[in-house]
Amino acid sequence: MNIKGNTVLITGGATGIGFALAETFLKAGNVVIICGRRQNKLDAARNKLRGVHTFTCDVTKKADRQALFRWTEDKFPGLNILINNAGVQGFADLKKGLQGLPHDVNEIGTNLVAPIQLSAQFTPSFLKKDAAAIINVTSGLGFVPIASMPIYCATKAALHSFTLSQRRQFRNTPILVFEIIPPMVATELGGQESATARGMNPAVLADEVLNAIAEDKFEIPIGEASGLVEGSKANFEATFQRLNSWG
Ligand SMILES: NC(=O)c1ccc[n+]([C@@H]2O[C@H](COP(=O)([O-])OP(=O)(O)OC[C@H]3O[C@@H](n4cnc5c(N)ncnc54)[C@H](OP(=O)(O)O)[C@@H]3O)[C@@H](O)[C@H]2O)c1
Repeated sequence: MNIKGNTVLITGGATGIGFALAETFLKAGNVVIICGRRQNKLDAARNKLRGVHTFTCDVTKKADRQALFRWTEDKFPGLNILINNAGVQGFADLKKGLQGLPHDVNEIGTNLVAPIQLSAQFTPSFLKKDAAAIINVTSGLGFVPIASMPIYCATKAALHSFTLSQRRQFRNTPILVFEIIPPMVATELGGQESATARGMNPAVLADEVLNAIAEDKFEIPIGEASGLVEGSKANFEATFQRLNSWG
């Protein structure tokens, strides 16, 4: 796919991986729109990224998704790439029953329902474009789960499965379907106070992603996520045991 001259909407684009993708798509010569819930994060991103457009939106809320869609239809009729990047992550201690479930993060709504609903919302318009793309951000943990984050991993596995069906249904249409499969990346995902020193630099990931999109590589495992994707196919049990022996 041509990675220049597009209009790109990135959910959760004010921080972390979404911010790095916004910066990289801007540098490559695209119009970029980011959305998220926190106005201060959107304002900070706008100060850092010259030319980026922002919209305050909670992707788990139907009214917010519809408002976002109407706003982009009005202001950015050329919008042709949707990146379903917004995500949240929580730990769950299943032995504690209801008490052990995460109460402050809506993983299913954010990581799974929102990408499905937003994809459907933009599909009729994308089908009329010469070229369009839906890009879902899953995780290496969607291929091999880490047991301490059971709901997060389940949402990413489900989004991976949904992406396969999307790609199949959209074959022979203008809509290309990509899946970004990050490894551990240094962001604030999961409520960490500051971006952890551990993990890949999001800017490095974003560069790899744009190169892969330019080469029409539709499934894009990055760094150590490749080991989980390959391990899930070659020897799932051994890969699962190895991953879960860490914690
Ligand atoms: N970091 C990693 O190690 C890693 C690994 C694999 C996959 N991923 C995936 O990469 C994606 C980006 O995560 P990240 O690591 O860059 O973490 P991050 O910095 O915490 O980014 C997540 C973004 O999503 C936004 N968001 C969360 N809930 C939202 C909602 N309901 N509506 C709108 N926006 C919402 C957040 O902004 P607001 O809170 O302001 O809404 C934030 O900007 C996620 O899908 C994550 O699962 C990350």
